[in-house]
Amino acid sequence: MRAREKNQNSKKKGAPGPLGLGAQGHKLSNKDFNLFRELIYAKSGISLSDDRKDLLTNRLGKRIRSGSFESYRQYYEYVIADSSGQELVQLINMISTNLTYFFREPKHFDLLQNTLLPKMIKSKADRNDRRIRFWSAACSSGEEVYSLLITVLPYLEPLSAWDFKLLGSDISTKVLSKAKLGLYDRSQVNGIDPLTISEYFHKKDQSLTVKPELKRLVKFARLNLLEPFPFKGQFEVIFCRNVMIYFDQSTRENIVNKFYQYLAPGGHLFIGHSENLTGLNHKFSYVGPAVYKK
Ligand SMILES: C[S@@+](CC[C@H](N)C(=O)[O-])C[C@H]1O[C@@H](n2cnc3c(N)ncnc32)[C@H](O)[C@@H]1O
Repeated sequence: MRAREKNQNSKKKGAPGPLGLGAQGHKLSNKDFNLFRELIYAKSGISLSDDRKDLLTNRLGKRIRSGSFESYRQYYEYVIADSSGQELVQLINMISTNLTYFFREPKHFDLLQNTLLPKMIKSKADRNDRRIRFWSAACSSGEEVYSLLITVLPYLEPLSAWDFKLLGSDISTKVLSKAKLGLYDRSQVNGIDPLTISEYFHKKDQSLTVKPELKRLVKFARLNLLEPFPFKGQFEVIFCRNVMIYFDQSTRENIVNKFYQYLAPGGHLFIGHSENLTGLNHKFSYVGPAVYKK
């Protein structure tokens, strides 16, 4: 019997508290904090430091209450007993930090626009190689993906001459649903010029939706960076920004070497400006702040 079902049957044991909580209370003990920490680290690579106990307590509290779990331990047992893996997906959705915005760390987009894309397009066209693949490997709610699309498309003229695809992936299904929708508030695109906005988005009241003909160039998928990558081909550009900061050194090294394998020769890896590959064993050459080349 699953922990949650067990929980529902055993609820009578204690009078529910004001929020439908069990009488035992909902303190996260250090022992249970460590259990969650180990599980989250093993399944997502996200390494939570000692001072993250309050964060975990808050983020899981809602789920504990809505599922009428009597304790954090009971919820933990429910997660590991769930052979569908769905509750683990929900747990990771709750603990992942998804902050992102359009054209975040703009120097990367400038470098693409002013230097890398013109060179790449010329060299591809000279070889009559029309295949271009970009990957945003921890894309959160899609802003990074659509910023890349807005940056690349002007170079693909006419678009029909190119076989261009952009993959956006993330471990969190919650943010991926948002990314797939491509629906943003106008305030989120402050700083993008109005002409570009009308070219790429449909406007309705205060919201903007990415035009369907552009969305067709993008695919979103759940992909855990810890797991083997399921690709046959290689990418010209991989963005993996502001996620490795949550990983420890050995996890970072492992992922960076997988990126190397899945980049085409001469391809570029972009990481967050607060991240670096120092101390990792890898074969990339340094190009500029947070940019590396195969
Ligand atoms: C702070 S956001 C960064 C979004 C975007 N790259 C940017 O820089 O604006 C980090 C993202 O990494 C995702 N993430 C965390 N662990 C992951 C893993 N093991 N595999 C794939 N994505 C992961 C989180 O769900 C989150 O959406």
